[in-house]
Amino acid sequence: MPDDAKPGVLPGPPALRTTAWPLPLVVGGHAILDGPVTHVASPASRTGGRGAVHADAAVVAEAASAADGARGACAAMSRRERAQVLRGAAGYLGTHLEELAMSLSLEVGKSLRDSRGEVERCVATLETAADAVAELGGHEVPVDAVPAGAGRLAFTVWEPVGVVAAIAGFNFPLLLAVHKVAAAVGAGCPVLLKPSERTPFTTLVLAEAVVASGWPPAAISILNGGPDVAIALCEDPRVRLVSFTGSSAVGAKIAERAGRHLKRVVLELGSNAATIVAPDGDLALAARACAAGGMASTGQSCISVQRVIAHRSIADDLARRIGTEVEALTTGDPLDPGTAVGTLVAPEETRRVAALVEDAVAHGAEVITGGVTGGELRPTVLLDVREPARLCQEEAFGPVVTVLPYDDLDEAVDLANSTPYGLMAGVFTASIDTALRVARGVESGGVHVNDTSNFRADNMPYGGVKASGIGKEGPASAMREMSVEKVITFRLPG
Ligand code: SIN
Repeated sequence: MPDDAKPGVLPGPPALRTTAWPLPLVVGGHAILDGPVTHVASPASRTGGRGAVHADAAVVAEAASAADGARGACAAMSRRERAQVLRGAAGYLGTHLEELAMSLSLEVGKSLRDSRGEVERCVATLETAADAVAELGGHEVPVDAVPAGAGRLAFTVWEPVGVVAAIAGFNFPLLLAVHKVAAAVGAGCPVLLKPSERTPFTTLVLAEAVVASGWPPAAISILNGGPDVAIALCEDPRVRLVSFTGSSAVGAKIAERAGRHLKRVVLELGSNAATIVAPDGDLALAARACAAGGMASTGQSCISVQRVIAHRSIADDLARRIGTEVEALTTGDPLDPGTAVGTLVAPEETRRVAALVEDAVAHGAEVITGGVTGGELRPTVLLDVREPARLCQEEAFGPVVTVLPYDDLDEAVDLANSTPYGLMAGVFTASIDTALRVARGVESGGVHVNDTSNFRADNMPYGGVKASGIGKEGPASAMREMSVEKVITFRLPG
């Protein structure tokens, strides 16, 4: 066993660990190597697999008990101290950027370029969270504006909600975890983090990053596991909020389980995001952005550009321009520094996405580039994907961009709204009127003018409507989600 994997010692940056030893669980800040081990094959190398110890209900209970015991210590930390933890963690991740990027590419299959971008975003998110802590405060409530409040002074304070369970998805293993852990630290909440069982490795670094920066060891656990661990987290009475990123189907189950125990939930779920391109939009810009936004992270993103809804007069031209841009992106080995589009996380994902593309073609879609040949899926652009093709309603979560013509703007907005989802949307236009009609008409958590659905600044409120979720992320918003607004009133003398 390598020295850094001994029980009781926190692991170093996982990417530095080249052995086949299993990576531990972290329970209350301590590494634990006892327990069943799951092996996860690397989508990048398609060889072997690293092992990670798997938690069970007893380990979850132990971690929840440690977290519950640490609630007072976390709540007692000043905003300045919590901000220091966040800045320290940002520095820690920044120092290990290259190893972490390599580790992400190994476990997700996305290109090193995408993985570097993910780690850089993690650093910025932690720094933003540190700034946002100073803004997390209440306000005076003018209670004497109603008769019952006469002679009173009132104000609100924001207190930590308590133990947070953070359940992250596989597509941005570190970033999704950072958004949740940064908000929990900022709000003063102990956190139990469950990475996706497909990508359990890189997030382990977060325990070391926050504990080394002053966060109480008992206030962070990282629990690798599958649905059994998620259920145990949702059902543990000490957990007060569950923050989940993943599919809408699993999100509904999480909400149901957590709801039985009256916990809060924040759900960042799926989408099949729309970007509308009006005839007065900058076509060259739109084509570049749609190609990049559809292929980033190999399309494994909730806001990936899936449905481009383009005015009929430009739809054909735009589809071909997007195709040309996609063809210019180098695909292949995620670990090759020149690769722009890597692989999907697992072979079954490739088969699932390929089946969606074949279904669209069977329903009359034209393949502009890519498609499926001999079971192999290449980055794909499709024109005229129409109902009942499954891609009209379902989330692709892969390297597929579809282009659909519209005739008038109301129809474009209706098409954008015609799915169960509503996370983020985009519109390319030179007209403020068109921009506002789309921004106000599309049902989603955000609309980006002259950019695609895939735009995200990590400090903005981020979350969807309809089947795309409940609540908001982005450090300032997520800290509020993880806080309880308490009102304090005083009867004034006299
Ligand atoms: C997500 O897929 O939920 C996150 C996408 C992003 O932050 O870019």
